[in-house]
Amino acid sequence: MPFTPTDYLPYDFANRRHIGPSPKEMAQMFKVLGVSDLEALIADTVPAGIRQDEDLAFGKPMSEREMLFHLREVASKNKVLTSLIGMGYHGTVTPPAIQRNIFENPAWYTAYTPYQPEISQGRLEALLNYQTMVSDLTGLDIANASLLDEATACAEAMTMAQRVAGSKAKAFFVDENCHPQNIAVMKTRAEPLGIELIVGAPDTLDPGRVFGAIFQYPGTLGHLRDLSADMAALHEAGAIGIVAADIMALCLLKEPGAMGADIAVGSTQRFGIPLGYGGPHAAYMATKDAYKRSMPGRIVGVSIDSHGNRAYRLSLQTREQHIRREKATSNVCTAQALLAVMAGFYAVFHGPDGLRAIAQRIHRKTVRLARGLEAAGFKVEPATFFDTLTVDVGLLQEGVLRAAVKEGVNLRRVGETRVGITLDEATRPATIEAVWRAFGLLRKDEDFAPDYRLPEALLRETAYLQHDIFHMNRAETEMMRYMRRLADRDLALDRAMIPLGSCTMKLNSAAEMMPVSWPEFAGLHPFAPADQAQGYTQMIDDLSDKLCQVTGYDAFSMQPNSGAQGEYAGLLTIAAWQKARGQGQRNVCLIPVNAHGTNPASAQMVGWKVVPVKCDEKGSIDLVDFRAKAEKHAEALAACMITYPSTHGVFEETVRGVCAITHEHGGQVYIDGANMNAMVGLSRPGDLGGDVSHLNLHKTFCIPHGGGGPGMGPIGVKEHLIPHLPAHPLEQGGAGPVSAAPYGSPSLLPISWGYILMMGGPGLTQATRVAILNANYIAKRLEGAYTVLYTGPTGRVAHECILDIRPFEKSAGVTVEDVAKRLIDCGFHAPTMSWPVAGTLMVEPTESETKAELDRFCDAMLAIREEIRAVEEGRADRDNNPLKHAPHTMEDLVRDWDRPYSREQGCFPPGAFRVDKYWPPVNRVDNVWGDRNLVCTCPPMSAYAEAAE
Ligand SMILES: Cc1ncc(COP(=O)(O)O)c(C=O)c1O
Repeated sequence: MPFTPTDYLPYDFANRRHIGPSPKEMAQMFKVLGVSDLEALIADTVPAGIRQDEDLAFGKPMSEREMLFHLREVASKNKVLTSLIGMGYHGTVTPPAIQRNIFENPAWYTAYTPYQPEISQGRLEALLNYQTMVSDLTGLDIANASLLDEATACAEAMTMAQRVAGSKAKAFFVDENCHPQNIAVMKTRAEPLGIELIVGAPDTLDPGRVFGAIFQYPGTLGHLRDLSADMAALHEAGAIGIVAADIMALCLLKEPGAMGADIAVGSTQRFGIPLGYGGPHAAYMATKDAYKRSMPGRIVGVSIDSHGNRAYRLSLQTREQHIRREKATSNVCTAQALLAVMAGFYAVFHGPDGLRAIAQRIHRKTVRLARGLEAAGFKVEPATFFDTLTVDVGLLQEGVLRAAVKEGVNLRRVGETRVGITLDEATRPATIEAVWRAFGLLRKDEDFAPDYRLPEALLRETAYLQHDIFHMNRAETEMMRYMRRLADRDLALDRAMIPLGSCTMKLNSAAEMMPVSWPEFAGLHPFAPADQAQGYTQMIDDLSDKLCQVTGYDAFSMQPNSGAQGEYAGLLTIAAWQKARGQGQRNVCLIPVNAHGTNPASAQMVGWKVVPVKCDEKGSIDLVDFRAKAEKHAEALAACMITYPSTHGVFEETVRGVCAITHEHGGQVYIDGANMNAMVGLSRPGDLGGDVSHLNLHKTFCIPHGGGGPGMGPIGVKEHLIPHLPAHPLEQGGAGPVSAAPYGSPSLLPISWGYILMMGGPGLTQATRVAILNANYIAKRLEGAYTVLYTGPTGRVAHECILDIRPFEKSAGVTVEDVAKRLIDCGFHAPTMSWPVAGTLMVEPTESETKAELDRFCDAMLAIREEIRAVEEGRADRDNNPLKHAPHTMEDLVRDWDRPYSREQGCFPPGAFRVDKYWPPVNRVDNVWGDRNLVCTCPPMSAYAEAAE
């Protein structure tokens, strides 16, 4: 079915909702580019040798209404029971104010990672609240702004412990009471790194044998242990103590810091984040101040701006993968920012008294439940607990579990004879009565008085959440306005194009987003019986099938929770395949120097040696160097990792050669699919010679970026790799899992699926073409003013282009940062700065932007070029000009103006809206100050007053 651009058909999603330029606008753009039509541009841009043979055929595209109707039908096949399975996943009550004002608000969910702090103060404050909450509840000095899930946080803590421990032992101890999925993911992570994992009862720990140990608190079956003595013994031996703690339990129980723990990790899911059949949820990590530089993930810190006002920013970035590459200790890039923001707001919303009351209610309900069971003679364990009980029912196990399901409740199967029950905030008296009925008991909730069974020695003695932010007036008006105020400080996609290269900030349509909130997708526990998740199964199967067609692969694993996690999973899959064919010694990975930092970081996580490959002057892989390195390492070559089209924004014609050389020398080809937005419908990585690729569903397939996550990085593989894909985290054998939940963060999948269903094959292909059109249009309009660093043989770019700012440093003292900050005055988020080439801006407009928005951006960039020219020609001062003072705040406008340029020029440059002007809340943020004076929790209220003065 060919794609015909139409001017307006009300229900045509692809043409007139998702794709920005109208047919008329496109015709104008063709003229600027000197091409007759879109196909001519694509023929000029995408080499014939890489084009796919057949069009994508997904049937008739659906309208928004049809898609939502279809998804409703599919969703209704999921059965939402009350899950009391526990294992780190709990029922929770998302405060409606948070659901509507954050979760379902594009001002929050369409924002990017806060790399440009001046336009990100709102979400940075929200994340700082989250970090403060985690730090307070765990009793540790510093927390990061989220990790992907609890199991990967455990694995990150393990490798962090190895880095910071005094002990040089090679083994790591895992308390057998850890949740099984945590143990499974740590096993996966430990094996390629040569870490011996000792899983056992806490009393069997020999601190002298290990560099660290992890304990679950409370244990997976509800046990509570004072870990103080274990921590002391570990320290004595120079080892590191880690506690995987339930954040809700910490509201009542002694915190890990007070027991001497060095690191605490866990999930914040039960702070208002829906179960979502496994995710997305934010995991937390907190540690002692001494170890802050070794902590993975992003950390929000407090700094000052150029006027000395308080300003937030991401701190200690030199630790991160994009700087350290193969020396990186973690590949975490996209994390779970939106969910961390929600969990932080849950704490702001309830405050310490509210959280304590919620935790107490959960506990008292659990005691009632226990008393009812005990009264009937059941043996309930443990004697003291927070929210989890285990009941030995002998031969009755199957019967009780089945009866519970009949009552609408899922309980946990523990071994052959036991049943586990974990209560939560959402548990109602009727639920407790239903559980009793499953055990054959007809009792009433009020038959049993509430009571406490927390161990005396483990009662929390310290206060938490004392900062004023957690003591706001509880009126929803206040809360709503606070959320609005923070959102208004930020520039998200709901205000302006975010032309971030390699990030594909395209439309996340309202229709795609709506099903995420539906209870049939949001309410399922990841370990609920499979027959309750038939809607999910249908969606995952169909989406996988379509992604196979898009990529040319034979199967998909939905488990990875981010692009980088996909890289790691893909490399593990390759490693397992190499091992299975007797080539387990292969450990060299060829990676071109222009690769994203997560590529080399992922390779080191599977224990491989990274061999960098040069790029030529056109930015393409240097084939001679590639061949030489492949030959040199032929015996040890495990894989190569390439990005297509390259991170330089060009379709390299040599890609098939690169794949062939790798295969000739026994290696496998990993094609990073983050740039798939330039390929869908035109070219398939699987046809080019790729064996495995990840897709960033949070780029190409419309999952919003959430201010730094969530995301999904599923991997597609060729047939021979299928047996080595990540396994279910609770199943024995096969390849190890990489995430806590079997399908990663599946509640996001309706977004990508809905997008594909509404676009259809031809619509998806058209989106790719228009993404290429939009990028080439920008490159053309800026021709003469800026140099586009890399182009293909016909002078075209792919879906993004790199603008060289370096010459202006010499000619006018203007840096790439000056241009990026000046764009804020023009009402834009800066393009990707200094990546993959220092001193450049990489622009990716995507297909969703209209010609008017592209022109606004081009006008702004051209005006900036004139400001640079004024400095070059001596008409403007080198240090005292609008570029150097950018961004300008409203405060600048009203304070004494002693600048050699006008207020008008400073604050309203071309591009800026007069009425809807975006005002950054702070001036340029001082990065160095923030790292020198590190503060990563909410500053005292007095600092707020000072800042306001
Ligand atoms: C080329 C490329 N590869 C990999 C990644 C990593 O993806 P994620 O941030 O989801 O981990 C990115 C993200 O920016 C990317 O641009």
